[in-house]
Amino acid sequence: MEYEEVKEKMRFDDERLKRMFMEGIDKLAKRMKRVKTKLAVMSGKGGVGKSTVASLLAVHYGKKGFKTGIMDCDFWGSSIPKMFGVESKRPIVREDGIEPVYTDKWGIAIMSIQFFLPSPESPLAWRGPMVSGVIRDMLSKTEWGEIDYLIFDLPPGTGDVPLTILQEVRPNGVVLVATPQELTTTIVEKSLKLAQELETAIVGLVENMSYFECPQCGHREYLFGKGRVGEIASKYRIEFFVELPIDPALTKLCDSGKIELYEIDPFEFFPI
Ligand SMILES: Nc1ncnc2c1ncn2[C@@H]1O[C@H](COP(=O)(O)OP(=O)(O)OP(=O)(O)O)[C@@H](O)[C@H]1O
Ligand SMILES: [Mg+2]
Ligand SMILES: [Zn+2]
Repeated sequence: MEYEEVKEKMRFDDERLKRMFMEGIDKLAKRMKRVKTKLAVMSGKGGVGKSTVASLLAVHYGKKGFKTGIMDCDFWGSSIPKMFGVESKRPIVREDGIEPVYTDKWGIAIMSIQFFLPSPESPLAWRGPMVSGVIRDMLSKTEWGEIDYLIFDLPPGTGDVPLTILQEVRPNGVVLVATPQELTTTIVEKSLKLAQELETAIVGLVENMSYFECPQCGHREYLFGKGRVGEIASKYRIEFFVELPIDPALTKLCDSGKIELYEIDPFEFFPI
């Protein structure tokens, strides 16, 4: 039903363009019907650990035995394949669809533009509307099968891609990622407002790089001050809030493509 609404809201002058667009949305809707729960990971700014959090969320479900996938929608800062050490693998392209790449440890399905680029350093001077089109296409052609959880790693901010995903995929909820540095609060509120406008629930807020735990005595040092992101969580009545510490072990696992081996699960008490 939601897709019908989206279609109605769109206005096109060019009939051919309109037809192409509608077909794309219909195909996408058909594929997405087979995914039980869709969660989008958003952040106001880049570099706050969004992809790390999206990956850890997928690992949380994968470990529990759920069929899980990640759609890497961050064309400009694609890092999901690298974190899972699958960047040299390639999806299998068939007549009826594309089979995603699967991770070694928990068999998480991964789709990313990165798999189709000649080299990881390929410059991507694409504009938002173009990227939205490619993502729609990739999503509608990927054979995720009947899966339980599909996690969307969105590019930072509230541009075309986050808008497209929220409008057309209609995720069950958004998980926001923020760091405790100043300024982020207002930036976080921008993402919150977008989600609210599109009637998408904010189901979680992760404060990343919140503190550093002293390996000697275990005491927590809140390097950037404590509580600011938490205040947003209570202000907006976000049910799930968690502080994720700066952990050099996590950086190392991300860099070496072994994020699946990270033992701490920040989503242990996530209600979805
Ligand atoms: N809690 C953490 N402890 C240690 N390192 C972290 C933590 N969170 C993220 N990192 C590291 O910080 C870097 C940036 O993280 P990540 O790629 O997830 O950010 P991002 O928000 O997705 O960035 P971009 O906007 O470029 O997509 C990575 O190298 C990652 O390993
Ligand atoms: Mg990222
Ligand atoms: Zn100490």
